[in-house]
Amino acid sequence: MNLKINSFEQYKEQHQNSISDPATFWDGIAQTFSWQKPYDTVCDWDFQKPDVKWFLGGVVNITENALDRHLPKRANQPAIIWEPNEPNSEHSTLTYQELHDQVCQFANALKSKGIVKGDRIILYMPMLPELAIAVLACARIGAIHSVVFAGFSANAMADRINDAQAKMVVTSDGLNRGAKQVGIKEIVDEALTKCTSIESVIVYQCTETAVEMKDGRDYWWHDAINGTNKICPAEPMDADDMLFILYTSGSTGKPKGVVHTHGGYMVYTAYSFQNVFQYEEGDVYWCTADIGWITGHSYIVYGPLLSGATTMMFEGIPTFPDAGRFWQVCEKHKVNQFYTAPTAIRALMGYGDDLVSQYDLSSLKVLGTVGEPINEEAWHWYHKLVGKEKCPVVDTWWQTETGGILISGLGNHSPMKPTFAGYPLPGIQPVLLDQEGKEITEDNVEGYLCIKHPWPSILRTTYGDHERCRVTYFSHYKNHYFTGDGARRDENGMYRIIGRVDDVINVSGHRFGTAEIENAINANSRVIESAVVAYPHDVKGQGIYAYVVCDGVVADEDAARLSIIETVNTEIGKIAKPEKIQFVSGLPKTRSGKIMRRILRKVAEGEPDKLGDTSTLLDPGVVSKIIEGGL
Ligand code: WT7
Repeated sequence: MNLKINSFEQYKEQHQNSISDPATFWDGIAQTFSWQKPYDTVCDWDFQKPDVKWFLGGVVNITENALDRHLPKRANQPAIIWEPNEPNSEHSTLTYQELHDQVCQFANALKSKGIVKGDRIILYMPMLPELAIAVLACARIGAIHSVVFAGFSANAMADRINDAQAKMVVTSDGLNRGAKQVGIKEIVDEALTKCTSIESVIVYQCTETAVEMKDGRDYWWHDAINGTNKICPAEPMDADDMLFILYTSGSTGKPKGVVHTHGGYMVYTAYSFQNVFQYEEGDVYWCTADIGWITGHSYIVYGPLLSGATTMMFEGIPTFPDAGRFWQVCEKHKVNQFYTAPTAIRALMGYGDDLVSQYDLSSLKVLGTVGEPINEEAWHWYHKLVGKEKCPVVDTWWQTETGGILISGLGNHSPMKPTFAGYPLPGIQPVLLDQEGKEITEDNVEGYLCIKHPWPSILRTTYGDHERCRVTYFSHYKNHYFTGDGARRDENGMYRIIGRVDDVINVSGHRFGTAEIENAINANSRVIESAVVAYPHDVKGQGIYAYVVCDGVVADEDAARLSIIETVNTEIGKIAKPEKIQFVSGLPKTRSGKIMRRILRKVAEGEPDKLGDTSTLLDPGVVSKIIEGGL
């Protein structure tokens, strides 16, 4: 299949067509997939409800398009190359035929454990091919996967299991992360003490750590697939039947389950993958994300496999055994497209250039970044040192909710400007709105980034709470999807993402709500209340700064900090660790009791002289104390 744009001129033409007649445009792309029954309407939408449907009447299964469709031509082509954590261990390869067979076998194993279409399954696993297999096996039989990143705590997992009312967990005994091993089955066991919906657990043997297996509930993966058939028909799915739920943080409450569906997600992830990365026959593509995040769903598993590509999976971390690992792996597998996060680039920059220069990176053709704004310095380092100034850098802007990349360069077919994501993909209609919700049409402006027409992989709902989806994304500005980001548009119409304008913090490309972290901190027995803000962090982009009010004076601040960090570990996971914790006697509040975060942000950013108007504060005295105690 070839959906590829080959020049900037062609891009402009396609984008124009996609705006003047979206249905015809997307129909042309969707026709290239195999449908069990053709759709009769391309798109039907109402952003007020919201009610968005794509490819109505169509029956399809995404795995048939990611696997079966390729077999006549690609049965023996590598689908997944897996590189282990330990550089001296052997890597492995799964061809399209092998991947197909293993997906079918595991799908049959799921069925034999009573899983049927519509059931929710939690996947809590290391970066092994079996994770991709489990994802695809769920989709094969119409079960809904919800991957939970294996760095989340038992409590965080339990929340997700309960929200999804999941019937099964698929996990492993343990996982390898650099020099460490983590026993993750234990974490599942602990989570399940808080859940009643789970009927069975399948455990893949990875680290060979001893684990407890609960009789009648827990099964080994190898036993479950033993003797299962390599054929499993792909369940017929309506185009808008649920494919997966992925939990992500927002500015309020607990993480919400973003829902994507078979048809639209399939069309958009394949289309965007091929165009952004300009994947060519025989290339080896590597995205370093974890499948626990949307980047891994869309651009390790679905987008590449739908495109018949060879996709790499990496079990390890960028700094093990040393900070040259990414480049060593690029050399070893002759990687052609490399996709990573700015936070990883910034971390690796710190280790010096030799760790890059000693490897042969001449196979690289396209470099990508995702997840957070990239600063000039990191951009140039990546472009010069890694790409030797011959690889375009595609800065891809998108979100869990958008399912795929919305604003980005397309390989070397787009103008490039450091720190700018660039132009919208065909089919995407971004606008900048002002405070009042009025569209800003001039150039060289900043505003709230919204999208005014649906694209096939837009979220359909938030699981179990459609109203929350409406309020969060569709109520701020009438007839627009609100992204939560602020953006600038330059004189040539290129977009630069400035960052979140809501109470969402982006730590190393991972999203947390301030309220979510505050709730975690407040679970500590000594804490009365807390307020969390972001501050600029050299490597992570943003760090978490917490202002905490305790019961009485804190005598040993270091001990109290450790205890709070431990509580956050338990409630969310190590990835949400507050970098700075300042003990305060009170928080700056307005007379109506609202915390004035603007003030806390300025202190955290080290600009206490720029607090602005503080006259509406209930007790202006707390501010000077906060400034004095600033970290
Ligand atoms: C938020 C979405 C999309 C996959 C990873 C994160 C920020 C994402 C960029 C970029 C500047 C970016 C935005 C967005 N973001 N990509 N290229 N430049 N900011 O997914 O967890 O859903 O987070 O990440 O603020 O809203 P996510």
